[in-house]
Amino acid sequence: PSLEEILNLHDFENIAKQVLPEKAWAYYSSASDDEMTLRENHAAYHRIWFRPRILRDVTNVDWSTTILGHKSSMPVYISATALGKLGHPDGELNLTRAAAKHNIIQMIPTLASCSFDEILDAAQPGQVQFFQLYVNKDRAITKKLVQHAESRGVKALFITVDAPQLGRREKDMRMKFEAEDPSVVSKSGSEGVDRSQGAARAISGFIDTSLNWNDLHWFKSITKMPLILKGVQCWEDALEAYDFGVAGVVLSNHGGRQLDFARSGIEILVEVVTKLKEKRGLTFPNEKFSLFVDGGVRRATDVLKAIALGATAVGVGRPFLYAFSAYGTEGVEKAFEILHDEFQMNMRLLGARNLKEVVPEMVDVSNLQSH
Ligand code: FNR
Repeated sequence: PSLEEILNLHDFENIAKQVLPEKAWAYYSSASDDEMTLRENHAAYHRIWFRPRILRDVTNVDWSTTILGHKSSMPVYISATALGKLGHPDGELNLTRAAAKHNIIQMIPTLASCSFDEILDAAQPGQVQFFQLYVNKDRAITKKLVQHAESRGVKALFITVDAPQLGRREKDMRMKFEAEDPSVVSKSGSEGVDRSQGAARAISGFIDTSLNWNDLHWFKSITKMPLILKGVQCWEDALEAYDFGVAGVVLSNHGGRQLDFARSGIEILVEVVTKLKEKRGLTFPNEKFSLFVDGGVRRATDVLKAIALGATAVGVGRPFLYAFSAYGTEGVEKAFEILHDEFQMNMRLLGARNLKEVVPEMVDVSNLQSH
């Protein structure tokens, strides 16, 4: 179908399933074990309902925002997803270009197919990019990566903390992954790579399983970039992160690709906001400690639910991968345009003229477990 026929973010997934090489579809779409968390990421949003307000002049509505001090045209950023070239020869550059046009922040993955510098070079002057870090057992490599990112103007470091070992994504494991494939990242240090268990396992052997809270002191000593922990899953860890003085956390289960039966980010958000208020008197959104959420976000209504509950912004992963796999950079631009249209309509219907007016009273969370 032509791009004009795409009406929502789900459509990109349906088309990607048809057009993507089998191996790419398996890697992008898969999640761990029985994929319960993958489904829950959507289901949790379906348990939240709106309480809109009426008779407010909603002629002008504005859903632009600030993420870690940087302007963004919407409260959505591109989350890090590895191996962009499995889906399209330009890989992650599609995201960089589309993000530039729409003033969206891109989180660059450690395991991008394009080299880090290629992605930085493709950015427009002033374009804001974040970096997602998988911590290498060889800390010298990690230090070099982090300091290089900072020197190239990357604005924040998202350390992935939910993946000491990658989950079993069985759809992906059934595909024999060829490490010689040009899509494989060069940085992975492919000696000793296990080629028989799918893309994810083939590239992840370098990840440091010993990573722990103490290491955060070291990260603070090697970079001035704000640190954000990606993959926090309960209030206890969110509190510890706050007390450690990091700039924020991403409440995320890695798109259902890590621990199966992990809860959805939106579910975790409710408990984190409640407990951090109780324990530290914090209110959200909070400029000193940002809460991000990702996993299963496909509609502006999903985003608005997270915003109402205190998130600063949400991350989106697969839909943008599917969009560029099928349509290149234009596909990603279309995805942003769809979200913009959805924001306009849904904020008007909610009776919110800006994101500050998207308040907790606008959602009914009585069907959420952690309520
Ligand atoms: C990911 N994600 C991810 N996260 C991360 O920290 N480092 C990575 O390299 C990757 N790679 C990756 C590849 C693919 C194919 C997917 C689908 C996801 C997780 C990602 O950042 C994000 O948490 C989820 O994708 C969000 O869920 P949705 O939007 O895909 O439902």
